[in-house]
Amino acid sequence: MTTHDFTPGAIDRDERVYVAGHRGLVGSAVWRKLESEGFNDVIGRSSSELDLKDRTAVFDFFAEEKPKHVVLAAAKVGGIMANNTYPHDFLSENLQIQVNVMDAAVEHGVERLVFLGSSCIYPKLAEQPIHEDALLTGHLEPTNDAYAIAKIAGILHVQAVRRQHGLPWISAMPTNLYGPGDNFSPQGSHVLPALIRRYDEAAQSGAGRVENWGTGTPRREFLHVDDMAAAVFHLLENYDGPDQVNVGTGSDVTIREIAETIAKIVGFDGETVWDTSKPDGTPQKLLDVSKLADAGWTAQIGLEEGLRSTVEWYREHAGSVRQ
Ligand SMILES: NC(=O)c1ccc[n+]([C@@H]2O[C@H](COP(=O)([O-])OP(=O)(O)OC[C@H]3O[C@@H](n4cnc5c(N)ncnc54)[C@H](OP(=O)(O)O)[C@@H]3O)[C@@H](O)[C@H]2O)c1
Repeated sequence: MTTHDFTPGAIDRDERVYVAGHRGLVGSAVWRKLESEGFNDVIGRSSSELDLKDRTAVFDFFAEEKPKHVVLAAAKVGGIMANNTYPHDFLSENLQIQVNVMDAAVEHGVERLVFLGSSCIYPKLAEQPIHEDALLTGHLEPTNDAYAIAKIAGILHVQAVRRQHGLPWISAMPTNLYGPGDNFSPQGSHVLPALIRRYDEAAQSGAGRVENWGTGTPRREFLHVDDMAAAVFHLLENYDGPDQVNVGTGSDVTIREIAETIAKIVGFDGETVWDTSKPDGTPQKLLDVSKLADAGWTAQIGLEEGLRSTVEWYREHAGSVRQ
C-alpha cells in the first residue's frame, strides 16, 4: 500500500476538480463555491453527456480528463414517495454510480475525493442528535432503506480505498438540504421544495386550502445548500479521517413550523389541512454536528433568510424548474 499523506491547507487553484452531478442541487452549489474560491479548472458532465452507470464510459472519462480531485454529488435522489415506490432503482443506480466513479478514481490516483451520503443512513430510532457512531446500530427507516444501504456502501467504499490504497478520501453526510437548483417536481421532490411549490401555487391561484402529508409534527433539520457547499469545501481542504462527517446546522424545526414560515413568505393566508392517514417518516432527525465544529466549520445561513431566497429563486425559475 502506498500512503498518500494529507496536509491540511489550501488546494492549488489550478488543480483540476471534477464535480460529479454538477447540475444538481448540491453539485451546482459546490461548483459556485469552487469558482468563488478561484478554482479555474472545474469540470462536470451532465448525465446525458456521461451516464455514470456506464462503467466503460466513466473509466474513459477519467483516463481522458485526469481530475486531481472529485466531489461525488451525482446520485439518484428523491423524497419519500419516490424512494418508497422505486427502491430497486434507488439501490441499483446509486451503487452503480458510486462504484464506477470511485473505482475509476482509484485507477487514476485521484488525490482527494469527497463522497456525499445522506442522514438517512442512520437508524430510524437513533438517539438524537445523531452522532456519527450511530451508523449500523439499528434498523433503518423502511421507506428509504434501499437508498440508505447504497449510501452506507459508499462510506465503506471510501474506507476500503483508504485502507487498501492509502488515499485520503472522505465522506460527508448532509442533513436535509434546500436552496437554488432544488427539485420542485410534485413526484420527485423532498418535503421543503414540495411545500414551497404547493404554498406558492395556492397563493398565486387564490386557493383557500393546502393539504400536506402526515401530522406536521416530525422534526427536521434543514441546511442551505450554499452552506453545504462551504462545508464540503472546508472538509476538502482541512479534514482527513475514515469515518463520515455529519453536515448540518445542529437545530431542527417541525414540518408544521416550516409550512407556516413558507405560507407567510409566499403570502398564503388560507387553511392548512394535515392528512394524517399518510406516513410521517422518521419522527425526528437532527444531526450531531460537533465533529464538523471540531473540524472548524459551522452553518452561517439562517432558515428564514434561506427560505426567502429559495422562494425568490423558485419564482424566477418557476417555468424552467425540473418537472
Ligand atoms: N437534497 C438533499 O436534501 C440531500 C440531503 C442529503 C444528502 N444529499 C446528497 O447529495 C448528493 C446530491 O444530491 P442533490 O440533492 O444535489 O441531487 P440532485 O439535485 O437530484 O442532483 C443529482 C445529480 O446527479 C446527476 N446524476 C444522477 N444520475 C446520474 C447518472 N446516471 N449519470 C450522471 N449523473 C447523474 C444528475 O445529473 P443531470 O442533472 O445531468 O441529470 C443530477 O445533476 C446525493 O448524494 C444526495 O444523497 C442530498
